[in-house]
Amino acid sequence: MKLRQLLCMCSAAAVFAMSAPAGFSKVEKVPFGAAGGTAVDLYVLTNAGGMTAKVMTYGATLTELDTPDRDGKLGDVVLGFDSLEGYLQKVPYFGATVGRVGNRIARGQFSLNGHTYQLATNDGPNHLHGGRKGFDKRVWTAEVLPGAAASVRFTYLSADGEEGYPGNCTVAVTYTLTDSNELRLDYVVSTDKDTPANVTNHSYFNLGGAENGSILDQEVMLNADRFTPVDATLIPTGELRSVVGTPMDFRTPTAVGAHLREVGGMPVGYDHNFVLNGGGGTLAPVATVHDPKSGRLMVVTSTEPGVQFYSGNFLDGTFTGKKGVAYRQYYGLCLETQHFPDSVNHPNFPSYVVKAGETYRSTTVYAFSAR
Ligand code: GLA
Repeated sequence: MKLRQLLCMCSAAAVFAMSAPAGFSKVEKVPFGAAGGTAVDLYVLTNAGGMTAKVMTYGATLTELDTPDRDGKLGDVVLGFDSLEGYLQKVPYFGATVGRVGNRIARGQFSLNGHTYQLATNDGPNHLHGGRKGFDKRVWTAEVLPGAAASVRFTYLSADGEEGYPGNCTVAVTYTLTDSNELRLDYVVSTDKDTPANVTNHSYFNLGGAENGSILDQEVMLNADRFTPVDATLIPTGELRSVVGTPMDFRTPTAVGAHLREVGGMPVGYDHNFVLNGGGGTLAPVATVHDPKSGRLMVVTSTEPGVQFYSGNFLDGTFTGKKGVAYRQYYGLCLETQHFPDSVNHPNFPSYVVKAGETYRSTTVYAFSAR
């Protein structure tokens, strides 16, 4: 029997194990320049099978993620830049940790404990991803964690009043790369005054490789029977609507491009929050993404109740990323696990208000294989 046939008979994970160099997991720290005079470091996490995740302290941003295709060949599956300079432009959150409140707050306003707060309106009439200088534009503190898996914790203290939010809010996100090819993100948020907080990761995935081009042929499955319809400025109306008979029906794996034109929007495409069937709280299925060409499969699980599925509609070729590729419309897709957008103004949505003295924990896992 030829080696190729033998490989095809094995599971994807086994194929990878056979073709990847044996080793131990490790974390390396590399200087990555400076942002506003503050030094930025890049942490390179490598697992025993050779899979790599690179995360920098600027924005606790995932800059590179090398995962095996069906032949065990590693390829970088997230959009981004080779150097820090790329990220210091006004970029659309490539790989970043976003907050204090990720996603939108209508007109940047909310009331809490009898107080009305006005935040920056940095997305048309609305507040988006924490405001003008959100968590994505801050330099975080990093600490390598002991243990079998490669793991780094990034911490940031968002001061009382920063970007208009109440309370000194401490946020930590731990990136762990396990030896079973999972990238696990654990978030911990605490505060000394009640505050809304909705922290997520804004990676643009392209399982064909960051230089691959369009993601429209890649197949997405979302574990959601309902979604939150939005107005023209992408603020939820408050309704939880069934996906049945709509282009939002991803209950079975469906090519992103299959019904994209029917979604409408300006620009056309998916930029919607899906109501996850798991309901939040426990680690439950969120999504799968499969690239039929390379065979790469990503399985996402999370403790969050929602996920913003964004098909890279606003990408327009302005940014030239890794390997000199200009990122055009639909060149990457985001699966931002989260509480629903504008929850602070919708009492019928699960609340993301973190109470003073309490700790909010959330986990999202991106598991990689190929078939
Ligand atoms: C989020 C939003 C999108 C867009 C991108 C960044 O995913 O939902 O509308 O703003 O961030 O461009």
